[in-house]
Amino acid sequence: MTEHAKITGLRSHRCGELRAGHIGSEVVMMGWVATRRDHGGVIFVDLRDHTGLLQVVFKPEVNAQAHRAGDALRNEYVIAVAGKVAHREEGNVNPKLDTGEVEILVERMDILNPSRPPLYGWDEDVDERLRMKHRYFDLRRETMQHNLRLRSRAANLVRNYLLERDFVDIETPVLTRATPEGARDYLVPSRINPGSFYALPQSPQIFKQLLMVGGFDRYFQVVKCFRDEDLRGNRQPEFTQIDLEMAFTQPEEVFALVDGLMARLFSECIGVEVPLPIPRITYSQAMEEYGSDAPDLRFGLKLVDLSEIVRGAGFKVFADAVAAGGQVKGIRVPGGGALSRKDLDDLTEFVTVFGAKGMAWVKRQNHGWQSPIAKFFSDAEREAMEARLELAEGDLAVFCADSHKVVAAALGNLRGELARRLNLTKQDEFEFVWVTDFPLLEYDEQAKRHTAKHHPFTSPVLADLEAHGDSDPLAIRARAYDITLNGVELGGGSIRIHQAELQKRVFDLLGLSEQEAQNKFGFLLEAFTHGAPPHGGIALGFDRIMMFLVGTQSIRDVIAFPKTQRAADLMMEAPAGVDEQQLRELGIRLRRD
Ligand code: AMO
Ligand code: AMP
Repeated sequence: MTEHAKITGLRSHRCGELRAGHIGSEVVMMGWVATRRDHGGVIFVDLRDHTGLLQVVFKPEVNAQAHRAGDALRNEYVIAVAGKVAHREEGNVNPKLDTGEVEILVERMDILNPSRPPLYGWDEDVDERLRMKHRYFDLRRETMQHNLRLRSRAANLVRNYLLERDFVDIETPVLTRATPEGARDYLVPSRINPGSFYALPQSPQIFKQLLMVGGFDRYFQVVKCFRDEDLRGNRQPEFTQIDLEMAFTQPEEVFALVDGLMARLFSECIGVEVPLPIPRITYSQAMEEYGSDAPDLRFGLKLVDLSEIVRGAGFKVFADAVAAGGQVKGIRVPGGGALSRKDLDDLTEFVTVFGAKGMAWVKRQNHGWQSPIAKFFSDAEREAMEARLELAEGDLAVFCADSHKVVAAALGNLRGELARRLNLTKQDEFEFVWVTDFPLLEYDEQAKRHTAKHHPFTSPVLADLEAHGDSDPLAIRARAYDITLNGVELGGGSIRIHQAELQKRVFDLLGLSEQEAQNKFGFLLEAFTHGAPPHGGIALGFDRIMMFLVGTQSIRDVIAFPKTQRAADLMMEAPAGVDEQQLRELGIRLRRD
């Protein structure tokens, strides 16, 4: 047997590129074996790369040596073939494939690397841990190829959009100090300064503000941020923000800029036209009507306040809640009369997770109410409730009586649950909304103090600060806004404080002593005294945007090497222990208690 010449050099085409127009030309193709079939002495291989599949054929009469070698091929082997493009035989044309008219008659073949048998089939529903452990293999999956290629294009679109508008892409440090965004910090010990730690940035917030002081009036960065927090649903310990900041700006300018960016992303990536301007709703209206600061506007099911109607009613649960300063609210569910007793029991169980003590309900039938609580109300009260809810025959209404906070949480989440059960949402609907006028502060029950709703650098509405600063700090509004999509927070930002005195006042409202403020943020307070311009901006969660663009419920589907819910990388096995010697150098001894 003579040693055949190795296939050297580059591929001439990629697998998905060949068409009838290439028939007769000599090509060199490289890729992975997707399938191999032996049809009575003729071997057919589907060769795959990210561009598609190509049929390559090993026939003894074309080249006996290549044909013999073709026998050894198995799925996922990496090979190179050289040969001529031919028209497929009558009956073998596959109209479903872009390359379905042609095939390669193989003259030479090299196995560039054999492969162990595939870990699983692409269509198999496999344990995600297995996918994570062998992420390099999983990335060959068509959806992962699509998702990450789209992510690359989207990032490029974002950069171009901002560069066209005079934004400057500036890198900020990763080894830094705590940046207060409300999560725990990831810490990095310093060897040179034993006992000292860097913190990884939860966001570049302070740096971007200092860039404004530094005269860069439009900054952006597509940037990794790090937060040690509970990893529910659409959160990762490291994630990517589209972070931006502008000097001499107003919320209107931020809204218009981000509106245009979203419209361009959705149009160019998935052909969806976002109607502009993106609508706006105030925080208080969102809480009032939807029980959430990230309302899903794809469906109605608004919360309706019935407190005044039931204030004096015979149903103690309702009357007592109102008397105690709470609320009674209901949701009209059109056609919800069809829900079963079991459905209603499930929904009652659902709301208790959010602190509700129960869920009352009414089915409006032709002869009146079917409801365990009907007997507690007078005709007039029932009529008033029906009118307020706009209840019609066949409808269901559900009610919750409790504090404002519990009612919002219970009914706000119940809206989403009802929409899921009743199939009120479609995958390809995109309802953006800006939520504006957030409160500056919230009360942390555990810590027994006020914390910043957004972050401590957010500017209060000055008139509110004057009116309520001393008496009712929770009534102060912030110049802060979020952009949300289908009930998911995509991004948040604000107009910032740019004056030292105001910043000190807000630190004071947050219970930070002058000394603490000086220790933690002295450099920022000082920077504000060296010509800080008014400024503001926003950060958008890029991973979350990508989840919508590829249509997935899992943030791990849009990240090449994601971490598990326990913040672990199963492939690299990170985090991991370190040598005693390394700890010694860092001056660290591990606690065993
Ligand atoms: P914020 O904390 O609201 O604002 O973060 C901005 C956006 O980042 C995304 N995000 C996350 N995505 C995935 N995993 C996480 N763990 C995670 N945490 C946040 C969200 C969120 O809306 N410095 C301010 C911005 C500013 O004021 O300009 C900030 O970081 O989509
Ligand atoms: P009870 O009188 O406790 O049997 O409650 C009668 C109905 O009112 C049941 O359907 C309960 O689920 C409901 N219910 C109880 N507490 C509340 C509440 N706080 N808000 C709304 N419904 C409630």
